[in-house]
Amino acid sequence: VTVQRAIARLVAEGLVETRPGAGNYLTARPEPEPADTSWQAAALGAARPSMDGGLGSGIRSVATDVIGLHTGYPSPELLPTRLLTLALHRATRDPEATLSTSPIAGLPDLRRFFADELSRACPGAVPVGEAQVLITSGGQNALSAALQGLTRPGDTVVMESPTFWGAIGAARAAGLRIAPVGTGPAGIDPGDLHDALTRHHAQVFYAQPTYANPTGVCWPDHVRADVHDVLRSRKAFMIEDDWARDLGLEASSPTPMAAADPDGHVIYIRSLTKSLSPAIRVAALVARGPAAQRITAGRWVADLYVSPLLQRTAIEAVRHPNWQRHLRLLRAGLTLRRDSLHAALTQHAPALTPAAPPDGGLSLWVRLPPGQDSTDVAARCLHAGLAVSPGQEWFPSEPDSQYLRLSYASTPAAQHEQAAHILQRICG
Ligand SMILES: Cc1ncc(COP(=O)(O)O)c(C=O)c1O
Repeated sequence: VTVQRAIARLVAEGLVETRPGAGNYLTARPEPEPADTSWQAAALGAARPSMDGGLGSGIRSVATDVIGLHTGYPSPELLPTRLLTLALHRATRDPEATLSTSPIAGLPDLRRFFADELSRACPGAVPVGEAQVLITSGGQNALSAALQGLTRPGDTVVMESPTFWGAIGAARAAGLRIAPVGTGPAGIDPGDLHDALTRHHAQVFYAQPTYANPTGVCWPDHVRADVHDVLRSRKAFMIEDDWARDLGLEASSPTPMAAADPDGHVIYIRSLTKSLSPAIRVAALVARGPAAQRITAGRWVADLYVSPLLQRTAIEAVRHPNWQRHLRLLRAGLTLRRDSLHAALTQHAPALTPAAPPDGGLSLWVRLPPGQDSTDVAARCLHAGLAVSPGQEWFPSEPDSQYLRLSYASTPAAQHEQAAHILQRICG
């Protein structure tokens, strides 16, 4: 009787409809009429220059029956589900994490974790202190804060070409011009960097020296040393985006440049998004001197502080004894998928096979045969049930050639052969 009364009331309120002989159903709610916002066109004026095409394809959702080689995040089965559940559970029992604010720069434990990690990377160097670490809401937030803290609108920032589309977007949103320097299999030419900084009176260089996204390139030691010399001689900053710190697939990864940088030329960004979970938006930015203060100021005006619940969850996860085990499993899983996609291309789409698979990161960067356009190829692949990221969106200016970025992290190896067949059919 109680249930019947409740249903009768819901029907009376229009929330439920009764279909005789079929049962009770939630009433379909009509979409509200679109508002008349035509006045906004004149009020807003011309749009600011932003990225062509907007968001990078790596973050777009596609239908579940599409093979997703476009996304820049590892698929859930590679992530530490149990460890994360435990960490979240522990975090929710801490009233400091659930009912309090966080210090603007982040929770001390988490800042210490990142400081210690960077100090351990180069034992002979001046150690990094907790006070030099700023917790941010993912690497993208750190990137925006760094660019805004170190530049003024109208300045020029030097970037590798190609580079991460989120960095291109953040620079444009900060009103910066971008001066590209080309990158090859051994990274950038430090002489080109020197020339670009000089010619454009630029003070800031954004780069990914280790397993760059999208190319997978890792700078050799001599390039790192020469770039450091250029930064010193030009009195310039480098934003070192170490996004793939946990994604090295060889026995060891190069030491971050920021680990041996006592004079504060290198601003370091290191995110947990790709190795812990894309849902836990926690990263660290390490900076020394007044630059650190400017960047911190730039960060808090955006959103005050990062959720202490997410910060506490991150601490619980990375301090858990199983964290290192998870990283080993993640790397093993990524290695398997990298090799499987590379082998599938070699066998079924030889013209698209990169010479050597990268030693780290999440994707293969493949050059298209002459005459192909990456945006057009990506659209045709999607139509055929395969999502890929067109090379076009990774270049701050004209691309030197046409490419696709194919993520091996987002799909099981079992789908790679089919993906290679589609690619061969469309652009082989
Ligand atoms: C090179 C690079 N930097 C920064 C980011 C942003 O990292 P997060 O997801 O932690 O914001 C990404 C994400 O794909 C990336 O590839």
